[in-house]
Amino acid sequence: MHLVVGATGLVGRAVAQQLRKRACDVRALVRGGAAHPGARSLSQAGVSIVAGDLRDPLAVAGACRGVDTIVCTATSMPAAGGDALQRVDQDGVLGLIGAAERAGVRRFVYTSFSSNIRVDSPLTLAKRSCEARLAESSVQSVILQPSFFMEIWLGPHLGFDAARAQARIYGDGKAGVSYVSALDVAAFAVSAATAPGELQDVLQIGGPEPVSQLGVVAVFERTAGRSFSLEHVPIQALEVQHQSADPLQKTFAALMMAYALGDPVAKARQTADRYGVQLTTVENYAAGLRP
Ligand SMILES: NC(=O)c1ccc[n+]([C@@H]2O[C@H](COP(=O)([O-])OP(=O)(O)OC[C@H]3O[C@@H](n4cnc5c(N)ncnc54)[C@H](OP(=O)(O)O)[C@@H]3O)[C@@H](O)[C@H]2O)c1
Repeated sequence: MHLVVGATGLVGRAVAQQLRKRACDVRALVRGGAAHPGARSLSQAGVSIVAGDLRDPLAVAGACRGVDTIVCTATSMPAAGGDALQRVDQDGVLGLIGAAERAGVRRFVYTSFSSNIRVDSPLTLAKRSCEARLAESSVQSVILQPSFFMEIWLGPHLGFDAARAQARIYGDGKAGVSYVSALDVAAFAVSAATAPGELQDVLQIGGPEPVSQLGVVAVFERTAGRSFSLEHVPIQALEVQHQSADPLQKTFAALMMAYALGDPVAKARQTADRYGVQLTTVENYAAGLRP
């Protein structure tokens, strides 16, 4: 039995669906259970829905019972405010790891983020704490450290609006980022969850090659056959936002600063070959194609 925590999200849904396509038994811990708007399509795909929240230790313990492998993609970002980053991304996931150990789970696949992200924030603290906890756990662990997702960072929520030919550039836009598709990250997670035998790994995951923000704009301009208008966010403005006492604002600023500084992932193609994942390029993504 595979337990997916985060199955109503971008990566987790793809993980649950891909596992079902491989005829694996899949359980999903879903806030609100069957009443969650995203639960129905999961049930239709044959995923068994268990109601629960990472902040509820009893529900988490129940969800882990009889489970062989856990894939955790959950995050309280981007919407939840207050202390959600600490209570969900940090304490909630640490609690899940403890529950996995007590339930005799064999393998834990954890979605962290790129090791190049070093700007401090509640999310950075949460990701690195969970990685450290897994490194000393008795459970086999596979830690995924993906770069920035194309679907998010090349999307309108972050000011990249291909339909309107507009892009927001963070910093000078010249540093390379190994943009990766969230669906490719899901493919890594599935491959890690289903690999036979012993597996203990930390995977730096990125697209086939780093592309700068300005390089991405050029790719989209070529694909769409029209020029983009650019809006610039100076790094100094992000540094001011990073001083915020609000954990979510501080985390947003930290991520945008890390994005501006660049995130080139070494040996991304070799890692993808090792896990049998075909990587989506920025060109494929701009053209609406997948490999
Ligand atoms: N975006 C990027 O560029 C990027 C880059 C690297 C790594 N990552 C990491 O990749 C992972 C997957 O991202 P994603 O885009 O798939 O995230 P997402 O779409 O926001 O999904 C988050 C999932 O976590 C669930 N969740 C939130 N709070 C919860 C709680 N208290 N208890 C149980 N489940 C809870 C959500 O459930 P609801 O539907 O109930 O909200 C949802 O299923 C995240 O860990 C993220 O940090 C993201």
